[in-house]
Amino acid sequence: MSAITQQPTLATLRAERARRDPSDMMGLVERFAEQCRDAWQRSASWTLASRPAPRSLVMLGMGGSAIGADLLKAWLEPQLPLPVTVSREYEVPGYVGADTLVIAVSYSGNTEETLAAFEDAHRRGASLLGITTGGTLRQRCAALGVPCFALPPGLPPRASLPYSFFSLLRLLQVLGIHAPDEAELADLLEVLDAGIRAWGPAETGGGEAFDLARALDQTIPVIYGAGPGLATVATRWKCQINENAKMAAASAALPEANHNEMAGYSSPQPQRDYARLALIMLSDDQARVEVRNRAEVTAAYLRERLPLHEAAARGRTRLARMFGLVLLGDFVSVYLAWLRGVDPTPVDAIEWLKQQLAARRGSE
Ligand code: F6R
Repeated sequence: MSAITQQPTLATLRAERARRDPSDMMGLVERFAEQCRDAWQRSASWTLASRPAPRSLVMLGMGGSAIGADLLKAWLEPQLPLPVTVSREYEVPGYVGADTLVIAVSYSGNTEETLAAFEDAHRRGASLLGITTGGTLRQRCAALGVPCFALPPGLPPRASLPYSFFSLLRLLQVLGIHAPDEAELADLLEVLDAGIRAWGPAETGGGEAFDLARALDQTIPVIYGAGPGLATVATRWKCQINENAKMAAASAALPEANHNEMAGYSSPQPQRDYARLALIMLSDDQARVEVRNRAEVTAAYLRERLPLHEAAARGRTRLARMFGLVLLGDFVSVYLAWLRGVDPTPVDAIEWLKQQLAARRGSE
């Protein structure tokens, strides 16, 4: 009997949901659109004292707190009038100074790298803002008189993506850096609502998300993004599969992969060398023709050698097309956890690492 036929059905998983997913990570994915609406509404009252227009924008964060900044950059960069960097370093880039706006995002407010970079930005005289639920970041903002905006408590940081993303967008709006297009936000919500109906675990759901999860179980997924913003969406898939399903995974971008990774799939012994790899191509038929051609030709090459799955962006506008695929990946990652019998919520390895490092800091 093959591994696939031994997998539980969605009906079985649904019946066992409370045991398999005791903290209800799936419920958070099912509420993705609701969280987007809530995040946008709750930030509507945010204000800031006027400050000189920045000449560059740097967003600080790690992991689940950085991905909202990555997605914002991937979406808006072609339209923004200033250079944008997402920094995951202990130090901010050398150009940071009084004319840079630095926004630190940390769900816990206690992330070592983000706090160190925040202090570095402060030393350089940057204009600062914080986004957090509390912790040291909130205390430092209060001590320095830096505006600090609240994320709702009680979520795994990676599940707070709608809040970090819309908080950043709202701040750009309040600062006059970007005026969001209401039609684009409406398109986003429409695509998310449809995605939740199609892919959620309700009676008529599962669909493409559950099928993909079944195919990816027992593999090492490598996700390719080929289209506007989709390299960043591929990163989100990878991180969600790592953290929710506790699986090794990798992500990469087209066209770049055409210049290196392609060669890695030309082994004369594909079955031996790629035994557990499964590739996923995220594509967008609104991408420029060169990128579409690359995605098609690359897919044809890869399909000959190892399993290749494809997922296409939907929606009318760039934001919806990116986030529709984010949502699909989030569902896939939780279905994978359910199929594999791992609790999607705790990330013990990450917590263990943070404790080890805190103990070392204590003994320095
Ligand atoms: C956990 C998660 C992690 C954290 C990261 C940074 O759900 O996604 O990637 O986001 O360890 O911690 P915070 O978000 O508290 O700054």
